[in-house]
Amino acid sequence: MRKKPFPSWPIFGKLEEKALVEVLRSGKWGIGGEKNVEFSQAFAKWLGVKRVVTCTNGTAAIEIALRAVGVKPADEVIVPSYTFVATASSVLSIGAVPIFADIEPATYMIDPDSVEAAITPKTKAVIPVHIGGGPADLDRIMKIAREHGLRVIEDAAQAHGAEWNGRRIGGDGDMAIWSFQSSKNLTSGEGGALSTNNEEMGEDAWSIMNCGRRKDRQWYEHFILGSNFRMTEFQAAILLKQLAKVEGQMKIRDKNASYLAKRMKEVEGVTPLESYPQTTRHAHHLFIMRYDSHSFGGVPKEKFVQAMNKEGIPLAPGYTVPLHELPAIRNYSLPYANLDYSATRLPVTERACKEEGMWFHQSVLLGTKNDMDDIVDAFLKVKRNSDELA
Ligand SMILES: Cc1ncc(COP(=O)(O)O)c(C=O)c1O
Repeated sequence: MRKKPFPSWPIFGKLEEKALVEVLRSGKWGIGGEKNVEFSQAFAKWLGVKRVVTCTNGTAAIEIALRAVGVKPADEVIVPSYTFVATASSVLSIGAVPIFADIEPATYMIDPDSVEAAITPKTKAVIPVHIGGGPADLDRIMKIAREHGLRVIEDAAQAHGAEWNGRRIGGDGDMAIWSFQSSKNLTSGEGGALSTNNEEMGEDAWSIMNCGRRKDRQWYEHFILGSNFRMTEFQAAILLKQLAKVEGQMKIRDKNASYLAKRMKEVEGVTPLESYPQTTRHAHHLFIMRYDSHSFGGVPKEKFVQAMNKEGIPLAPGYTVPLHELPAIRNYSLPYANLDYSATRLPVTERACKEEGMWFHQSVLLGTKNDMDDIVDAFLKVKRNSDELA
């Protein structure tokens, strides 16, 4: 059994310390500071988009995006069910109705055919999630959206630095949302942002984030119903320092992920997810694999994950409940819409949650080649002992 820990996260040092003290001493901790402006510009440049708006977190970013693209109560928004709860709960928070689409079996990305099948006259938008850090099928989603007049909000909470056809994602849909929560590849503990190439939507998003204010108008004039979703200057200062580290960390993850994927071929019954051919760079927020219990004498996923953990390998079972089965979603109601998901069946999503899907967090991929070898050795050992586990 391995005793050595895998790399810890976040990674920080004197630069972050100095940046925090600088903000502290400036006395400009919120409005009036320059760090949010600086980070918004730096992140927009890094993504290659016209506009970035910072905010409190990724969940708030989805709510802001939904409002900025014009989703109204009772409108339907198509979302995957294999994702973090916020992708759907934010839709409910603004009074709209999430409609769940299935995912593709080899990629776990939202299935464009399932999206198309879910479209009704009430559909206003679709939220493809770049799950684990690999882009969803942007070509097909954008085509479907154009054909049906839908807005596209990319949930890029897990996909900092991912590329599609050689271009960083973040500007393909009407808006993309980002999370800088503790686990994310770019983090300030909490935090979020929206990116867009649509200046008007960017301006509306900024206003919704800032209590409905307009940049060129008086402080107590409020033009659209917004809220206080402002990020602090401390967060923005940390993000500026962390952004400079992303590329170096991505290179390590790229190398380890491709080595691990190659070596995983030795472990029959555990298959890393595939990416689309247009994926020119994966962000590797998660290294997601599909587990086939038949190759392990019928040992269920949960037991297999526990056995790996006992070997000192931080394998996680991932999302274990599809969003359409979560009590938080099932027990919610809206007076004007039918939210009964009891008949919703998404076979690929349900299999991914309950039987197949498991992952390593991005920080595991910041380790060494030996760490990757330890992982594969543990898989092989647990496989050899699977008779005892069954
Ligand atoms: C896919 C996805 N969407 C949205 C969010 C919400 O982001 P946050 O935790 O910053 O609110 C997360 C992150 O936790 C996520 O993984």
